[in-house]
Amino acid sequence: MQTNSQWLTILSVSLGAAALVGCADLSKSTQKRGQIIVRPFGLAPDGSDVNLYTLRNVKGAEVGICNYGGLVIFLKVPDRSGKLADVVLGYDNLPDYIRDTPYFGALIGRYGNRIAKGKFTLDGKEYTLAVNNGPNALHGGLKGFDKVVWEARFLASLEGPSLELLYVSKDGEEGYPGTLSVKAVYTLTDDNALKLEYTATTDKDTVVNLTHHSYFNLAGRGDILNHQVMLPADKFTPVDSTLIPTGELKPVDGTPFDFRTPTAIGARIGQEDEQLKFGGGYDHNWVINKQTGQLTRMARVYEPTSGRVMEVWSTEPGLQFYSGNFLDGKNTGKGGWVYKFRNGFCMEPQHYPDSPNHPDFPSVVLKPAQTYRNTIIYKFSVQ
Ligand code: GLA
Repeated sequence: MQTNSQWLTILSVSLGAAALVGCADLSKSTQKRGQIIVRPFGLAPDGSDVNLYTLRNVKGAEVGICNYGGLVIFLKVPDRSGKLADVVLGYDNLPDYIRDTPYFGALIGRYGNRIAKGKFTLDGKEYTLAVNNGPNALHGGLKGFDKVVWEARFLASLEGPSLELLYVSKDGEEGYPGTLSVKAVYTLTDDNALKLEYTATTDKDTVVNLTHHSYFNLAGRGDILNHQVMLPADKFTPVDSTLIPTGELKPVDGTPFDFRTPTAIGARIGQEDEQLKFGGGYDHNWVINKQTGQLTRMARVYEPTSGRVMEVWSTEPGLQFYSGNFLDGKNTGKGGWVYKFRNGFCMEPQHYPDSPNHPDFPSVVLKPAQTYRNTIIYKFSVQ
């Protein structure tokens, strides 16, 4: 247990955590397991206090989450010899995240991925969003859910240490209709899985597409080209040159997008292919073979030198696999690592990009009587 003077020991995990600084040893309470350590992490641009919450499970794996942007700051899991390493990219301190981040570790919303020209029509009314990515809207706008301060609370969970983040997005915020009340629960389970459970309700019809944007590197260094990826998807959604889906669901057969058998990310990424050219590599949505809403395995990634394996499970219909093509050495991250081209990859379970403008894609509309639910699990093991 930490005994830093800034840290206090608290005995109950059912207390609201936002204002507390300390360490909760969950093994002291009857059935709860693991630890939650809280420490100050600086000030948000609006002056509010931000904390870093470290969830540590019984096996010693750790995830650091901050209540600015719901950011995953670090995630330490063992390799095949049991050695822990941080497998996500990011910064050591909050000012770096505030200054310039390509969504490292971020909770993305209200709408993850792109909306063409920042426009969509809902119930006959046209809505206009900020255009922040070429001609399109990306990841919820200028101040998306990755840049707001969330209220944090510890949760009693039988699966492992758990943190709940709450945020109410106002009607009209970033151009979206409806007051959206969002809850994101992060749990580090005893079997080394980071489980994210998102729920949301609205007071007016709106569109919602939440996701998580960690950049993974299972070796904890270097590029990600030798990571072997398996995606159970017969189809993907090809895009135009601004990364907006054309509307087609294209078979992966015979293309560099066929990851139905494990294949190194680097094996075909340099091929002459229009889609790879548009994305600068992989930056596409795979249509996962599944029934709507089922929690299924959407990806398996294996890194041969460390032996680390990451499985991605989700209830979402699509998976954006992004191979870090915009990383260009301008962001220096944790421990002085200069993040170069393809030093990390993202696996973002979500609805398909630009769904509000594609009536034949699975719907992203949320109505007042409904509850939006999305579960994402990143499960770590070794091979
Ligand atoms: C997503 C997008 C990428 C890129 C990153 C952030 O994954 O699909 O094109 O914008 O976010 O840099």
